[in-house]
Amino acid sequence: MANLETKYLGLNLKNPFIVGSSGLTSTHIQIKRYEVAGASAVVIKSIFEEEIHNEFEHFMTNEYQGHHNNEFYDYFDYKIKEQSLEKYSKLIYQVKNETDLKVIASINAISTAEWASYAKKFEEAGADALEINAFLLPTRIDETSQEIENKYFELVNHVLNYVEIPVSLKIGSYFSGLANTIHKLSQTGIKGLTLFNRTFHPDIDIDSMKLAPAMVFSSDHEYLLPLRWIALMSGRINIDISASTGIHSSTEAIKMLLAGAKTCQIVSAIYKHGPNVITKMIEDTERWMESKNFASVDDFRGLANNSKVHDPAFLERIQFMKYFGDREDIV
Ligand SMILES: Cc1cc2nc3c(=O)[nH]c(=O)nc-3n(C[C@H](O)[C@H](O)[C@H](O)COP(=O)(O)O)c2cc1C
Repeated sequence: MANLETKYLGLNLKNPFIVGSSGLTSTHIQIKRYEVAGASAVVIKSIFEEEIHNEFEHFMTNEYQGHHNNEFYDYFDYKIKEQSLEKYSKLIYQVKNETDLKVIASINAISTAEWASYAKKFEEAGADALEINAFLLPTRIDETSQEIENKYFELVNHVLNYVEIPVSLKIGSYFSGLANTIHKLSQTGIKGLTLFNRTFHPDIDIDSMKLAPAMVFSSDHEYLLPLRWIALMSGRINIDISASTGIHSSTEAIKMLLAGAKTCQIVSAIYKHGPNVITKMIEDTERWMESKNFASVDDFRGLANNSKVHDPAFLERIQFMKYFGDREDIV
């Protein structure tokens, strides 16, 4: 029998399959179904600083229009935050008490100071680890790449001061010096990186000629972006990598593990096919391991990473030229 046990962020997981942060992981009733399906851990839906802020603004505009002074304002700001944190902590507590799943809390923060301290509350509620969902879209024309990167480091350093549970950071791929940033982040004290978050892309509706949301869910070819960077970086940093985006079957999952990922986070595939997709991924991975005579995941993890390649970009260019040089149908 193939052994799928995996150590991730210092936690002992029975397999590398984690349900990623999303609406799928926002109630304990839903989360229990992933345990039955075989998942080893869940990343709970992020608590969004902006969302709480918006809720507060909405409340003040609709309920207390024109009646508030500063004290009143501060009181409700505090109250709404407390309620949100309370609800989130309760969910962590319930999942910890009612399942054997490892629970990773997730915060989406835009400011560092006050927000980082809330991570402590999730630690106290029993979270096994914390994932910081820190996706900053670099859209401002007056902000340099250095200034943007500094925000990530400030955020991470701040959170690390508050909690003792392992911390991982989930990032997008929009960095000009991605390899260097990943390497520097790996030296901050975080225990893992989740590569990559997938943003909601805006599209354009040609009838209304207005912006419209594009597909919310990933498709199965999107795994290629995280796969490349996991293969490039897993042998060069000493922290864990969790793969996210485009894992729809055991095929993508096995590739991520071969590239060096410790775990695979699944979201869109569960939205599309239900929790049983996890059961199938586990069974198919076991079958593949048996066919290749691998007794454990550690036997094949990282076999296809790029750590031995001196200049990975050069290797990629050569492969690209070879592919197109050999083909006469594509010119
Ligand atoms: C409906 C929906 C809600 C999501 N909410 C969150 C969230 O709260 N926090 C987070 O870190 N990622 C969130 N994500 C991103 C997912 O965790 C994941 O990184 C992304 O969907 C790519 O994985 P997939 O290809 O398996 O869907 C969300 C994704 C979807 C589709």
